[in-house]
Amino acid sequence: MFPNRLFRTSTFRYAMLYMAVFGLSVCGVLVFVYWSTVSVIDAQSDDTIEAEITGLAEQYRERRVVGLVEIIRQRSSGESGRRGVYLLTDPFLTPLAGNLAGWPEAAKGPPGWVDFHIKQAARPALRPQIARARTFELDGGFHLLVGRDLTERAAFRETITNALIWALLATLALGFGGGLLLSRYFLRRLDAINQGSRAILHGDLTQRMPVTGYSDEFDRLAENLNDMLDQIERLMEGMRGVADNIAHDLRSPISRLRSRLEVTLMAQSDPEEYRTALAKTIEETDGILDTFNALLAIALAESGVLRDRFERLDLGALVRDAAELYGAAAEEHGLRLDVDAADDCLIDGDRNLLSQAISNLLDNAFNHTPENGSIALAARRGQDGRPEFSIADTGPGIAKEERQRVLERFVRLDDSRSTPGSGLGLSQVAATARLHYADLSLEDNAPGLRIRLRFPATEKRLESQKRLTYNNMQQ
Ligand SMILES: Nc1ncnc2c1ncn2[C@@H]1O[C@H](COP(=O)(O)OP(=O)(O)OP(=O)(O)O)[C@@H](O)[C@H]1O
Ligand SMILES: [Mg+2]
Repeated sequence: MFPNRLFRTSTFRYAMLYMAVFGLSVCGVLVFVYWSTVSVIDAQSDDTIEAEITGLAEQYRERRVVGLVEIIRQRSSGESGRRGVYLLTDPFLTPLAGNLAGWPEAAKGPPGWVDFHIKQAARPALRPQIARARTFELDGGFHLLVGRDLTERAAFRETITNALIWALLATLALGFGGGLLLSRYFLRRLDAINQGSRAILHGDLTQRMPVTGYSDEFDRLAENLNDMLDQIERLMEGMRGVADNIAHDLRSPISRLRSRLEVTLMAQSDPEEYRTALAKTIEETDGILDTFNALLAIALAESGVLRDRFERLDLGALVRDAAELYGAAAEEHGLRLDVDAADDCLIDGDRNLLSQAISNLLDNAFNHTPENGSIALAARRGQDGRPEFSIADTGPGIAKEERQRVLERFVRLDDSRSTPGSGLGLSQVAATARLHYADLSLEDNAPGLRIRLRFPATEKRLESQKRLTYNNMQQ
């Protein structure tokens, strides 16, 4: 089963293809080397033979047969006799001198180049050999044959053929083995990812793809898939949260609404009472709609999709705008509203969500600060250069152990139960902070509450975004 799967992987197929191409190239190179070497050797030995024949013909002209016989005897024995082939015969092809037993059959035609087998008798110690020779007719009817033993060339051919076979075998073995190893490696890495995705498909959304730490393309794939799964999980949790909230927290106001309408209808009141009841119903419906909208806004902020639409914003300007909007109300409540907004607090963000968050915080401050108290709004750069927003009031503050809990949806502290509100204001602030990668902290203003939002420095954010885009492009 496993090897079968290995053979069917694309890695294995590519390895085989590569092996075929590589094997053919190796063969091509060896064949080329063989042919070019052999043709050089052949040309050289033909030239040598040609030169020797010219020399011998000259000797014959000067010293006639006796001299030639002597020279051929010399040459066909000793060192040069080992590689050279010589034969001088009379007009009837009877050998006079040389190292061949008789005139070769192949050379019986008109003078010229011949390839022939040397009879074993001439060299009993060796197996039959091939020689290449030139025949020549001297005046007087004598025949002369001068040639070279081609055994060396044959040996060279054998060496090359052997090399060819071994190279092919080695290429096949290496290619096949390498292909198997590579496929097994890639299959194993991919299998891990496949297993992870199958587990997730079967419902285990907490499962993540394994990351080996090699930082290779598989790790990048796994990391991206994991990021994607994190995002999906966050979105699903958000949706589940909204659904739960609707099921639990919007049920009672809607039921309340319904029973009031029912009671009004049964009481058979006069038109004026109906009118009052309807006005109240509209008011409550507005409240429910507000809650709905707030829930959806929180879910949207938590999904993170708005990050793609972030714009460069001046936090100071946002704060100044909000202060202007709340100025009159502050006077009405007998509260002092201090604003300290710097000009150099640039952030990347969503204008609507941030304005909404500042409004929520201002609403809370107004609701909890007693008369003659003060509210301080600030937008400036912190000590580390990060843009920072803060709002401080002189109300009762929030006890340390409650500071985390009030950020959850629908959480309202006991002393607020009598006032209208749904407990979603701080949840929206927290979701907006997360969307902007801002650190949210609730602190003691002694007396009162101070809420601080520390945004990431804009340059850095852009840089990390660039890196992200670059990574995405690479994949
Ligand atoms: N500035 C503050 N001082 C003291 N307590 C606060 C302050 N802001 C919020 N709280 C407490 O935190 C709770 C949650 O606040 P949150 O803004 O989430 O809801 P809410 O103001 O009650 O309702 P909503 O904002 O949805 O109208 C409040 O009910 C209140 O008890
Ligand atoms: Mg509130």
